[in-house]
Amino acid sequence: MTIADKVKMLDGKEIPVFGFGCYNSYGEEITNAVAAALDAGYRYIDSAARYRNEAEVGAALKNFAGKREEIFVLSKVWPTAYDAVEASVEKSRKELGVEYLDAMLLHWPGTDETRRLRAYETLLQLRDKGRIGTVGVSNFQEEQIETIKEQFGAYPAILELEVHPGYQQNALQDFCAERGIVRIAYSPIGRGRYQENEVLQALSRKYGKTTSQVILRWHLQRGTVPIPKSGHKERILENADVFDFCLTEEEMEILRGLECGGRMGLDPLTFNG
Ligand SMILES: NC(=O)c1ccc[n+]([C@@H]2O[C@H](COP(=O)([O-])OP(=O)(O)OC[C@H]3O[C@@H](n4cnc5c(N)ncnc54)[C@H](OP(=O)(O)O)[C@@H]3O)[C@@H](O)[C@H]2O)c1
Repeated sequence: MTIADKVKMLDGKEIPVFGFGCYNSYGEEITNAVAAALDAGYRYIDSAARYRNEAEVGAALKNFAGKREEIFVLSKVWPTAYDAVEASVEKSRKELGVEYLDAMLLHWPGTDETRRLRAYETLLQLRDKGRIGTVGVSNFQEEQIETIKEQFGAYPAILELEVHPGYQQNALQDFCAERGIVRIAYSPIGRGRYQENEVLQALSRKYGKTTSQVILRWHLQRGTVPIPKSGHKERILENADVFDFCLTEEEMEILRGLECGGRMGLDPLTFNG
């Protein structure tokens, strides 16, 4: 596996196996970080209207030396914009400075099912008009994903969800894997919280890799697409340097044992934006 590899989605399109997260970084820092990530070989940029930095991300995309079709640009619609999805998509597209978005997700399910389904339907319409490539969701639960299938005849191609060793969401991940839904792991290194973990430190010593690299490798071997974020070039390079070692089956099992229900993000069952 290499950073340039891609995986096929339910809609026949492809997404890179590794991405770069753009949350919580602004101004020149995020422009330089995205540029460094593209230089380092990252080919999927994970953006969102909510990050309020899409123009700065776009400044780096504009200077990308390769062809537009070599990179995968994903953005998300925030729940408070579910009555104005088309405008939100258009704003993201313009700020990112791209002709089309490779994927667009509903960022959170919210508690209002009617609104959620209407927003999803609008994304499907925009896809059918060729304005976006792939339609997906983030932070959705099994039942909400099944409802989409019942209403629109197909599963979303992507579920972006919080995953790191202490919060693995194994049941939801298995549910997606069985249905061919691509899983994107957000906060994949738990925002740096595993540096002192002894199990990870032991693997870190064995492979001559950092604990973050061990975790990112674990995601890849589980078939989950990790999207680590860093504002620092050396960490951007470090996080991408995970394609030259392999954890054993036994080690994968040991890491499974780190699950402890340690969600860091918001509660998808109640959050409305
Ligand atoms: N769909 C959603 O609801 C949702 C929610 C949250 C996040 N996301 C997406 O997922 C992306 C990643 O998640 P995240 O930003 O929450 O967390 P993360 O990628 O797990 O961690 C980022 C944090 O870890 C630090 N870091 C990065 N590389 C490191 C390394 N090698 N060693 C030690 N520390 C390191 C970064 O600091 P420095 O920047 O200082 O290096 C930053 O503070 C986001 O950027 C966003 O695109 C999506």
